[in-house]
Amino acid sequence: MGRLEGKVALITGAGAGIGRASALLFAREGAKIAVVERDTQSGAETAKLIKDAGGDAVFIATDVTEAADVESAVQQTLDIFGRLDVLYNNAGGSTVNDARVTDAPVDEFWRKMKLDLFGTWLGCRYGIDAMLKCGNGGSVINATSIFAIIGTHGKDAYTAAKGAISAITRSMAVEYASENIRVNAVAPGATATARVLKLLKEDGVTSKSLDGQLLGLVQPDDIAYAALYLASDESRSTTGHILTVDGGLTIS
Ligand SMILES: NC(=O)c1ccc[n+]([C@@H]2O[C@H](COP(=O)([O-])OP(=O)(O)OC[C@H]3O[C@@H](n4cnc5c(N)ncnc54)[C@H](O)[C@@H]3O)[C@@H](O)[C@H]2O)c1
Repeated sequence: MGRLEGKVALITGAGAGIGRASALLFAREGAKIAVVERDTQSGAETAKLIKDAGGDAVFIATDVTEAADVESAVQQTLDIFGRLDVLYNNAGGSTVNDARVTDAPVDEFWRKMKLDLFGTWLGCRYGIDAMLKCGNGGSVINATSIFAIIGTHGKDAYTAAKGAISAITRSMAVEYASENIRVNAVAPGATATARVLKLLKEDGVTSKSLDGQLLGLVQPDDIAYAALYLASDESRSTTGHILTVDGGLTIS
């Protein structure tokens, strides 16, 4: 029996990188997956990969920065699968445009707030509401970053968004514990997704953050396995936790 047998998981940004790795792993562990993604080609492809492997998935084209889109994605998940047990607010990511505050374009701040923070807040707004209505409890997993834990260079807009995500992870954990809804976050170090491999070539900040990763570059599957633990009932006593998967960076 899979570790997520009988559960329904909604994963944002599941068309690529950590989101896709998590969708494939969660499906192998028995969850039905709502692949919530802005990019129609990659989102549909993730759903097809799951179905071709014998799993159950639906692709729901969604921009996580649009409230109506997120509300509709959650409703469609309920309509199709009948419940929501796991909400993984994964969509986000730093860009090469971000920089130390005096050098960054002003718009970069709002881009990061909108995608990483507002996208996560909206996921919780509608996803936790659905869990409350289903009455089965649930597990929320937010994507934060080691940048929200240690002082680092050149990503102040991204760092601000991820710091806020860590903060709301803790407050929401307190707010929904009595309804058995757990809220945790994963904090990856530099992880080998296509976006970050490109950043590592172009951007000294991202490549510098690798210096302290004693175990080297993290793989998307390593984050997916951490998220799997948080999604499963194995973590039923864990809430408000920020789980680092960073090759030892934050202790080096
Ligand atoms: N890869 C890393 O090194 C690393 C490190 C720390 C934290 N993280 C966090 O992990 C998460 C995933 O990172 P990744 O490297 O897998 O990213 P990625 O760029 O590989 O994948 C992100 C996915 O999100 C989708 N997406 C982007 N904007 C969207 C929107 N508005 N609506 C819906 N979908 C959208 C993209 O199309 C893409 O499929 C992010 O929140 C990122 O900040 C990653």
